[in-house]
Parts: sequence; C-alpha cells; structure tokens
Amino acid sequence: MCGIVGILGQGPVAGSLIDALKRLEYRGYDSAGVATLEDGRLERRRAEGKLRNLEALLREKPLHGCVGIGHTRWATHGRPTENNAHPHASDKLAVVHNGIIENFRELRDELIALGHKFVTQTDTEAVVHLVTEQIRRGLSPVEAVAASLPRLKGAFALAILFEGEENLLIGARRGAPLAVGYGEGGEMYLGSDALALAAFTDTITYLEDGDWVILRRGSAEFRDEENKPVERPKLKTQASAFLVDKGNYRHFMAKEIHEQPEVVARTLAHYIDFSNGCVRLPFELPFDPKDLRAITITACGTAYYAGMVAKYWFERFARLPVEIDVASEFRYRDAPMPEKGLMIVVSQSGETADSLASLRFARAHGQKVIGVVNVPTSTIARESDVAAPTLAGPEIGVASTKAFTCQLTVLAALALALGRARGVLDAAEEKRLVNELMVVPGLLAEAMKLEPGIEALSHQLGKARDVLYLGRGPSYPLALEGALKLKEISYIHAEGYAAGELKHGPIALIDEQLPVIVIAPTDSVLEKTVSNLQEVAARGGRIIMVGDSHAIDAAAVSLAGEIRLPDMAPDFAAIVYAAPIQMLAYYTAVFMGKDVDQPRNLAKSVTVE
Ligand code: F6R
Repeated sequence: MCGIVGILGQGPVAGSLIDALKRLEYRGYDSAGVATLEDGRLERRRAEGKLRNLEALLREKPLHGCVGIGHTRWATHGRPTENNAHPHASDKLAVVHNGIIENFRELRDELIALGHKFVTQTDTEAVVHLVTEQIRRGLSPVEAVAASLPRLKGAFALAILFEGEENLLIGARRGAPLAVGYGEGGEMYLGSDALALAAFTDTITYLEDGDWVILRRGSAEFRDEENKPVERPKLKTQASAFLVDKGNYRHFMAKEIHEQPEVVARTLAHYIDFSNGCVRLPFELPFDPKDLRAITITACGTAYYAGMVAKYWFERFARLPVEIDVASEFRYRDAPMPEKGLMIVVSQSGETADSLASLRFARAHGQKVIGVVNVPTSTIARESDVAAPTLAGPEIGVASTKAFTCQLTVLAALALALGRARGVLDAAEEKRLVNELMVVPGLLAEAMKLEPGIEALSHQLGKARDVLYLGRGPSYPLALEGALKLKEISYIHAEGYAAGELKHGPIALIDEQLPVIVIAPTDSVLEKTVSNLQEVAARGGRIIMVGDSHAIDAAAVSLAGEIRLPDMAPDFAAIVYAAPIQMLAYYTAVFMGKDVDQPRNLAKSVTVE
C-alpha cells in the first residue's frame, strides 16, 4: 500500500524524505513523489516507477526546503503515471494520501461547479480542492482541514503541506495508520508506520482512528474526530532495533526464510513453558474455554492458509468446530454467529481492510476476538479482545514467509491451550505435543540445509507454464500456500488442490509437461496421498515429492525430483514443510530473474478492499 512521510526539519529534508520512502518500499508502489517549500513556495518532484527515478530527477532539479512530504503510490484510482503520482497540489497546499476517498466523485462534481480544475484521475485530488476551497473562503489552514475532514468518506491517512507555512504540517488518520515521530532539536515527522521513521527517532505517537494532528517544530497537537484536543501517549518503538537491511542475502525474502528457525523459536518461547512442557499463554483468555462452542477464523492470502492449517489443530486438539472463510467473503456474508463463539483474525500487518472489517462484524455480533498479529501496535491488535503476537519481526519481502510460520506457531499453541483447558488433552498428551513443537525450530534449521537441492530443482520449475500442488490434511492448505507463493513471485500459473479432489477434475491437466508437487509427510493420510500420486504417475505426470524418507520410499514411483525432509512427528510438520515450499518458489523466481521482494501489482499491506 502507499507510504506516507512528512518532515518538519532543521535543514533541507528532500534526502531524508527519500530515505524514509526507501524504508517503506516493502509496502509495494508504482510511482513516488516529494514536495517541499522553497522560500515559502510549494515545489514538487514526481516520477513513475521506482524511487531511483525520483532520485535521478532530484539530482537534476534539487529541492532545498526544510519542510516537506513524500509518498510512494500504489495505484488505485488512475494509472501509475507521473501525473497521478502524489503529492497532489493546488496553489495553496500539497497532499499525500494512503487509502481511498469513497465519495470523491461527489466532492469532485461539487468542487468543479465551484470553479476548481481537476487534472488527475485520483481520488486524492478531491481532498486538495476541498481544503483549498475552505482557505479561499478565508479559513486558516488548520480551520480549513477541520472543516474538510468531516466531509471525507472512506479509510485513509493524509499528510498536508501548506504554501507559505514553513512551520506547519497536518496529518489525519481514518482507517489507515499514521504515526508522529519526535526528533532532535524539535524536528517532527509523520509516517505511515514506525519503520518509516526508524532512522530518525524511536519516540513516536500513533494517531487513533479518526484523529488528526497539527505539527509544528517541537510540538504535536492532537485532535479527535470531533475536533476536540486530545492527549496521545508517546511510545518507544522497537522498529529501529531491527536491522532493516538484507544482511548477506540477495533478497529480503531469502533473509526472512532463513530467519525462521530463530523467529519461530522466539515465538514459541513466548507461548511455551519449556521447562514444564506445557503451554503458557502470555495473556488471559477473554472467555472461559470450557464454555466455548465454536471458532470462526478469518484472514486473507497466506494468513488465511495459516488459519486453514490451524482448523485441523483446533478440531483435533480442542474438539471445537471451526468455520473458516477469506475475510473479503466473510465480511459480506452476514453469517449467523454462534453463541459463545470465538473469532480468530490472522494478519501479519494487522491492517488488512477486509480482516479488520470481519473483526468488527464479529465483535458487533457478540464474538470474542483474538487477533494473531505481527505488528503489535496495529489496528487489528488494538481492536481485538486479545492480541496474540507473532514474534517474526518486521517482514519486508512482499511474499509472506516467516510471518506464516510464526502464525502457525501461535495457532498451534492456542489449540493446545484450549485443548488442555477444555479437558480434551491431559497433561501427558499436552507435554508430548509441546515436545513436538519444541523441536520445530531445529527441524526448520535442518530444512534450510536442503537449499542447494531446492535451487537445482527450481530450474525445472522455472521452465514450466503451469504447476499443480497436491496435499491432504494440513498439507492441503500448504499446497494452496505453495501455489500462491509460486504465482505471486514467479508469475507461473499454479494451483493447489486437495489430493483427493484430483479425480474430480484436475487430473485432466496431467501430462509430461506439468510439474506436480506432492506434499506428503508420513502421517495418517500418507497412504491415500500415495494412491493419488500413483494416479498422476500413471498418466506420465512429472512428480516432485516433498516428504521424509519413509514417505518418498512409499511413493514407489519414479520421481522428477524430491525434497527429502528429516523424519518428524506429523502433528506440526506443516510448520517445517512450509520452508522448502517457500524456497522452491523463491529460487524459481530468482532463476527467472523476477523482482522477488516487490512482485508486480502487489502490496505488502492491503489497507483497501
Ligand atoms: C502472500 C501474502 C498475502 C498476505 C495477505 C494478508 O505472500 O503476503 O497473501 O498474506 O495480503 O496480509 P496480512 O497478513 O497482513 O493481513
């Protein structure tokens, strides 16, 4: 999604604006721009494509102003051209914006009738003219914003810079996140997340939903939705503690895949009492687990597949019925919510619009909500009854990897905790399962050693037009996740299927050209998966098997490739098997020369529907 930054500096700010925008690159974007005040006059530089284009433009035509705003745009309304790039401006002000102004057409018609000229296809321009109109009517910039905000519908964050106002920036938040940073010598910052500001300060304030803020050097004046002055706490952020660089890796995605043994261990340590072999949740459950009747899980993309794996765990270990749906469907289904029900929302960013809307629906319909989130300060974390943190650290690669395995880890711990509290698991059974979880980081580290073989296999995959992934039980959602990972970063068409569904249609696709990746740890359904695999082999399919030695031997067919994992108990094998599947997609995309960390058309945090 779009990135916003604003700086009220002591010296020229253009370089720092670009640095901050670089830290927001991971969110995904297709054009960028900055605006500063040059002797009180608004000046903009904007460019299509990557930030290097904007940097080149700034070298040619530098900006020297000490107050400015910057933006990376992920196109929603209008193509990613220079003209549609932010900041958008009038003779009075410049605006950068994240999110969507839903009533922009209505506002545009009204403002055109008042003589305003619109020159872009963006919804943002309606904000520019709306505030400009108030200033033309004689209001001060602050009064003009106060008068304009109630007219805007939708979910958005804004930063506004005013002609002639060297000591003023205004930010507003409704739906999309926005933070204020406090720097040395009175420097002030605005950013769409703490990472954007990490290089400048570790002291920040998050705007609450509906808030807006008037920044002057050394001061931040917060107002709520009703325009009443409010106090918001200053926090010390952790963001700067994480090294947001690639280390020795070529891509963030590779680095994040390799971080998994460590971050899964860190997450486990937060939920498991290692010495006593039991789960110890780091929060009070907001309900009595014995009374719980049903769980609903909702999420998007990879986080949804984590939920799908967890469905098997909640059903088996806690004997709770689980309903699961993608958040974009769930939010509009008007689903009847069970009595004494729990909703689990899974989200890396904690800002995904559909997941947030589902959370709000569930709360309004009497559900208790647990948010499994990676960003502890996110909206989903704050609006859940309980936030269950995944301790993956900032995930920069657009394709989710370490967040997925940490989500699985938290969900596994939660399933065991509920199972124990409901009397489904006794202490011995809990201990056995906890011991299985405790070895997962070590098994992940073992899986990392398979990298050279996986890289070699990826050269086969890189030549394919389509790829099919098959699995049963928790390996079925993994098959879906494998297909998602491959298509999003390599652009090869891929599909995941429940292996048992093969005969009901997709078997027609099998020929010598189609790689079929079969995910099959040794578990209770291995035999069934092997039958399906033999059906593929009988039709000349090119099978790549992901399994342990026993499973690979059991397949008893000639394989086009294999990824041989160490032996492990089946219960949480999905967490370990995720890693080779991610690596396969990663190396295929690298082999094909794709932009692995920022795949085309994708955004890291999807804060629009
Ligand atoms: C795929 C991917 C996406 C996200 C989805 C949800 O690799 O990253 O499918 O999983 O957009 O995002 P969060 O978890 O931030 O709600």
